[in-house]
Amino acid sequence: MILWLLAAALWAQEQCASCHAEHVEDFTSHKHSAAKLSCEVCHGASEKHRKAVGSASPDKVAAPSEVPALCGTCHTDALKAYAASKHGRIVAAAGKTKAANCGNCHGVHAPRWAAAMERQCARCHAQLPESCKAKPSSLNARLACASCHDPHTLGKKQ
Ligand code: HEC
Ligand code: HEC
Ligand code: HEC
Ligand code: HEC
Ligand code: HEC
Ligand code: HEC
Repeated sequence: MILWLLAAALWAQEQCASCHAEHVEDFTSHKHSAAKLSCEVCHGASEKHRKAVGSASPDKVAAPSEVPALCGTCHTDALKAYAASKHGRIVAAAGKTKAANCGNCHGVHAPRWAAAMERQCARCHAQLPESCKAKPSSLNARLACASCHDPHTLGKKQ
């Protein structure tokens, strides 16, 4: 009985696991998986894709500039704060300059924790002003940069 329930819950992922075992495995470490989101939420049922062994595109694959709207369908507060930020405006413009979208910081399948996020910041922000090396007034953020910068608005904390 328990096995049957588990099998039912994992049905959606099974549609993809035969070819994307690694993605399915990564996904089990995300709160999305615990909250019963499936691959389908972001990629559609992708029936043609599955039957054509990948030679037809999945129903949906968000481009970098489309990621905020995709994540923001459920995370409305985060999207609102992010969209008005410098990152948000640059990503929305979809031009040559790249800035962080939700997925660059958080990861899309496996979640990215603080240290991994900070490595993402460093990819684009190699040179930081002296002010970033000062001692933050509060160290309660998991991400060092977030002690001073709100990670979504990028504005000053407090
Ligand atoms: C029978 C094998 C098979 C199944 C089943 C399958 N895929 Fe794929 N998928 C592929 C192949 C092959 C590729 C191309 C891989 C590559 O380009 O490296 C691919 C690529 C993708 C991509 C990237 C497409 C792009 O344009 O970047 C996504 C997203 C994807 N699959 C999602 C899914 C989802 C979601 C499911 C389940 C609903 C699924 N796939 C089921 C074989 C499969
Ligand atoms: C919350 C949304 C979301 C969910 C849920 C999700 N994906 Fe994705 N996926 C994305 C986004 C956004 C991209 C494109 C960005 C990128 O390439 O990293 C992507 C890219 C992919 C790719 C192609 C790029 C790569 O990493 O190889 C594959 C394959 C894929 N997803 C498979 C899956 C499978 C299988 C599941 C279910 C276990 C799944 N995805 C669940 C958002 C999601
Ligand atoms: C269909 C709705 C939906 C979509 C689309 C969605 N999420 Fe979520 N997300 C959830 C739910 C539900 C949870 C679990 C909430 C909880 O456990 O508090 C969650 C949890 C999270 C968390 C963990 C939050 C925490 O408090 O630890 C992060 C980070 C996150 N999502 C980022 C994203 C990103 C990035 C995307 C786009 C690639 C995305 N989400 C797309 C519904 C969604
Ligand atoms: C520049 C990196 C960055 C970007 C871009 C980003 N986030 Fe975050 N986000 C963070 C950090 C850092 C936290 C705090 C998490 C922590 O302390 O572990 C956070 C927290 C969250 C949380 C947890 C609840 C909350 O609001 O504190 C959710 C959900 C979330 N982000 C979703 C999103 C979504 C959706 C987008 C895109 C619209 C996005 N984030 C863009 C870095 C980012
Ligand atoms: C993919 C590249 C990329 C990543 C990853 C990235 N950023 Fe940015 N960020 C940018 C760009 C581009 C700008 C705009 C720079 C400018 O206007 O000179 C920017 C601007 C900023 C600003 C200034 C905002 C303002 O209003 O002036 C802050 C603060 C910032 N980023 C913090 C972060 C933090 C913290 C992280 C990691 C959690 C991060 N960024 C990750 C590309 C990125
Ligand atoms: C002790 C607080 C503090 C910490 C921690 C901090 N910053 Fe800053 N940061 C500031 C202040 C204050 C400014 C604005 C003043 C300035 O430009 O000199 C700033 C400005 C920036 C800018 C804009 C630079 C420009 O040239 O306009 C970026 C990008 C940035 N920070 C990224 C980061 C990243 C990434 C981290 C984590 C590795 C980080 N900061 C950590 C306080 C901090």
